[in-house]
Amino acid sequence: MPPLCCLILIDKIFSYDKIKYDKFKMVIYMIFYFSATGNSKHAAEVIAEKTGDKAVDIVDVLKNGIPENKTDKTGFVFPVYFWGLPEIIKRFASMPEVKNSLGSYVFCVITCGASTGTADKMLEKALGRKMNYSFSLKMPDNYVVMYDPCEKEKAKKYLRHADKELETVCGEIGRKENKKSGASGGELNSFIVSKLYNPFRKTKKFFADDKCTSCGFCEKICPEGAIVIENGRPKWIKSKCQHCTACINRCPAKAIQYGKKTADRGRYSYYNVKDENK
Ligand SMILES: Cc1cc2nc3c(=O)[nH]c(=O)nc-3n(C[C@H](O)[C@H](O)[C@H](O)COP(=O)(O)O)c2cc1C
Ligand code: SF4
Ligand code: SF4
Repeated sequence: MPPLCCLILIDKIFSYDKIKYDKFKMVIYMIFYFSATGNSKHAAEVIAEKTGDKAVDIVDVLKNGIPENKTDKTGFVFPVYFWGLPEIIKRFASMPEVKNSLGSYVFCVITCGASTGTADKMLEKALGRKMNYSFSLKMPDNYVVMYDPCEKEKAKKYLRHADKELETVCGEIGRKENKKSGASGGELNSFIVSKLYNPFRKTKKFFADDKCTSCGFCEKICPEGAIVIENGRPKWIKSKCQHCTACINRCPAKAIQYGKKTADRGRYSYYNVKDENK
């Protein structure tokens, strides 16, 4: 018969904290994320840190394959595009390897500037299974192609609010709650506007202006491999891309434009705001 103190210790490990219990069983939760301007990456990393999960970039997974894992929970964190799924998410979630790797509890946190409509339902359709948990997380809007993205002071405020929401999200995911919450609305847009994304995501109007310093950063960060540096300037070599805005918003020289309107617009990137937001 083990001494009483041993029994108490074992009981504590197994019942005191669900997350610790899962760690004890060496279960790794997998969070797949996609992010262009850093909002969704930040959200995925906060959730991973607080719940003991591992956050992996979908762009890397598509290159290197799904990391080996024994998964009990699987998460997807990504931005909403046109009140629907980014093409890369739709493609990734439809892959048999991904469907076969899912844990018993599947959740998504979809970041947005306003609302996500029924993007979670679209993810369910691609995965071929129901979500246990979905959260629509309002963060700074980055779609510079269509409008002025969120300016710095507003972005700081939104990010502080998002971090508070993420605390709730981590608790709910940790307890494996079944629910849908966060910013509401956009259902009609999901029905109508989401259909415009695919025809709209053309690269024809992208170019770099004279401010380009030939640093090569845009080529490095494009998730689509749509940019190559040729004669010191970026060249878009694919006719369509994700329209993620990583190149426009994150070019250090603000040299990338899309048509005529973006030259007068601001730029947004989580990476430019985060250090000032502590
Ligand atoms: C192509 C594109 C379409 C977008 N469509 C929507 C939208 O339909 N609704 C919305 O609220 N935000 C929309 N946004 C804003 C992003 O979803 C939001 O800024 C997101 O947090 C960016 O995430 P990231 O920084 O991880 O890339 C769109 C952004 C892009 C680039
Ligand atoms: S990131 Fe900007 S400055 Fe650097 S190569 Fe691309 S366009 Fe030029
Ligand atoms: S070309 Fe620019 S907008 Fe298109 S996928 Fe690459 S980084 Fe994103």
